[in-house]
Amino acid sequence: MFGSEVVAFRGTHQAGVETPQQAHAWFVGLDLLPGADLDAAGRLMRVWTDDAERLTGGSAALADLEVELATSPSRLTITLGLGLPFFHALGLDAQAPSSLGPLPAFPIDRFDGRWPQTDLLLQVSSDDVMTVSHAVRVLARDARSLTRVVWIQRGFVPARGTKPAGTTPRNQLGQVDGTVNPVPGSADFADVVWAGDGPSWFQGGTMLVLRRIRMALDTWERMARDGREFVIGRRLADGAPITGGTERSAVDFEAKDSVGLPAIDDSAHVRLAHARNPDERILRRGYSYDDSPGTDSVSDVGLIFCAYAADLDRQFLPIQRRLAARDLLNPWTTPVGSATYAIPPGTQPGQPWCQGLLGA
Ligand code: HEM
Repeated sequence: MFGSEVVAFRGTHQAGVETPQQAHAWFVGLDLLPGADLDAAGRLMRVWTDDAERLTGGSAALADLEVELATSPSRLTITLGLGLPFFHALGLDAQAPSSLGPLPAFPIDRFDGRWPQTDLLLQVSSDDVMTVSHAVRVLARDARSLTRVVWIQRGFVPARGTKPAGTTPRNQLGQVDGTVNPVPGSADFADVVWAGDGPSWFQGGTMLVLRRIRMALDTWERMARDGREFVIGRRLADGAPITGGTERSAVDFEAKDSVGLPAIDDSAHVRLAHARNPDERILRRGYSYDDSPGTDSVSDVGLIFCAYAADLDRQFLPIQRRLAARDLLNPWTTPVGSATYAIPPGTQPGQPWCQGLLGA
């Protein structure tokens, strides 16, 4: 039984980034209602912080009418993000981290208009989807006079307890996805993820790129298994490099195949995504989605791609540029939505979210 497990809400950093991945995450994009000012934003933060502290601790929020649904947090975390339009709306542009803003347009983008940039993001994650659903309802309802929900992206990874803890999840293409990542709790993780410069209120925060990437399973499944492994450069069975070893072995980018060609293709996903210098590192903590299909396919599945990094221009963009230009995976993966958020630092007891920014 893990229903009563709690992740600390207070701390230097917000929970939900370094936290070992929960089975479910809902990403809720919200806009401020027209006319919102600094006072309103301060009120919103006080309400949400109180709700989030109670819910993540396994207690009902103040005006909760379904109190019994709050008693199984199952490692519930509630993480706040701020989009660039939030800073514009409140006249706080000078306080926005420099790498916050729309990503450049990439030739692979096919946005369908349903997942635009929003002012605010709530990332609500737990091992129990009922808990997530209840928390999202409470947070949205309590902010009803100040915000409007624009979209909800519901994501999942394999259920807790089905594999040993620490097993790298698989995505909807069947691949082991998340092997090369900074290790939570390490100094390396802190360097990659937590902001140490930029506006003073943002120290200890991070940046999030949230991209909804649709997978073309129908055409992917037409390819032979070794072709599907070649596209990435790793084996489907265990996630090991196709150049040999086990999941955690380094990829041998110099290896040649039997006719002398690179064993890892020049455009294989891992070759292009691999850091070319120590700056190009990100934390990937994505979730799968599965929506109702349209009439053209039997499924609509993909990845809610989440990359966290202290600075997106320095760490994320060089990787994304290379992948957008010629990743072998591109014919089967299409970004249909994209947004970026500043994830403010954590809070100390009694302090609302964004106190350093809003002065509330
Ligand atoms: C649906 C789209 C995507 C799929 C299915 C996918 C899948 C994978 C898989 C299977 C791996 C190898 C195992 C691992 O290390 O996790 C991998 C590695 C990686 N991917 Fe992706 N990926 C996608 C999109 C992206 C995007 C958009 C980025 C960044 C812009 C990215 C960055 C990386 C990085 C940095 C690695 C580790 C490379 C290394 O150093 O070996 N991926 N991806």
